[in-house]
Amino acid sequence: MSVPISRDAGNGKITVPDIQNRKASLPGSASPKITCLTAYDYPTARLLDEAGVDILLVGDSLGMVVLGYENTLPVTMEEMLHHARAVRRGARRALVVADMPYGSFHLSVEETVRNAVRFVKDAGAGAVKIEGGERRLELIARLVEAEIPVMGHIGLTPQSLNALGGFRVQGKTAEAGERLLRDARAVEAAGAFSIVLESIPRELAAEITRELRIPTIGIGAGPECDGQVLVLHDVIGLNLGHQPKFARRYTEVGEAIAQAARAFCDDVRNGRFPSDAESYHLSAEARERLHPHTRA
Ligand code: KIV
Repeated sequence: MSVPISRDAGNGKITVPDIQNRKASLPGSASPKITCLTAYDYPTARLLDEAGVDILLVGDSLGMVVLGYENTLPVTMEEMLHHARAVRRGARRALVVADMPYGSFHLSVEETVRNAVRFVKDAGAGAVKIEGGERRLELIARLVEAEIPVMGHIGLTPQSLNALGGFRVQGKTAEAGERLLRDARAVEAAGAFSIVLESIPRELAAEITRELRIPTIGIGAGPECDGQVLVLHDVIGLNLGHQPKFARRYTEVGEAIAQAARAFCDDVRNGRFPSDAESYHLSAEARERLHPHTRA
């Protein structure tokens, strides 16, 4: 029996079932690959949404690319909620997924559910993302039970930075690959609707994609995944830090901003800005009453 490919919920919005139905190997599926970019504010959310991006991920990468932290560990729930609300206001069609930050799901199941509920109730997110594999089985199941769709995330999980000893490609040996396969199976068994595979060998990502029934969304995991995700600031040339080899740069917004700022300073210092056309004017009558003896 072929699974119908629903494109939206009748109102143009991308839903969790729409994403599930985009699994490339589903019988009868001729659906396009899933596209996902990170978004952290209202204008970029609107632009990405209008450009047709399927999923806007309010990633905790915002800690590094927007807030200037050294890694994602200091990011708080309040910071995530603040940005998730802005993204939600800019998203008309795309599914908004909010990242559970480090510390928001490590203390207890109750605390995890409470934090995830805040993303849905306070910020209007359609799903949450949680880093980790087998170890998160119970947590993911409890969130799903609380009607909160979960996107898994395995491979290079930046919140495990201290345990991993750095940002390194994961799953490079047969044993490590087996562990990641087990992680992927556990995330699926727990009820996640999709899973991010970050920085793992292409062959392993292809194997996981073949085996799982939920869509895989790759970042540095090769082209066989059911979808691709990138950090927006890497894509647009606004990342002031390390640019990973998998992050294709499509434009140079950073250079455009710097150039505009240099031109502005130059114009102000040389009296070229503002011009008369960029200034407001009094009416002739008001001018006369204000300065009766002045003839402009
Ligand atoms: O925080 C983030 O932006 C992410 C993506 C890299 C998947 O987790």
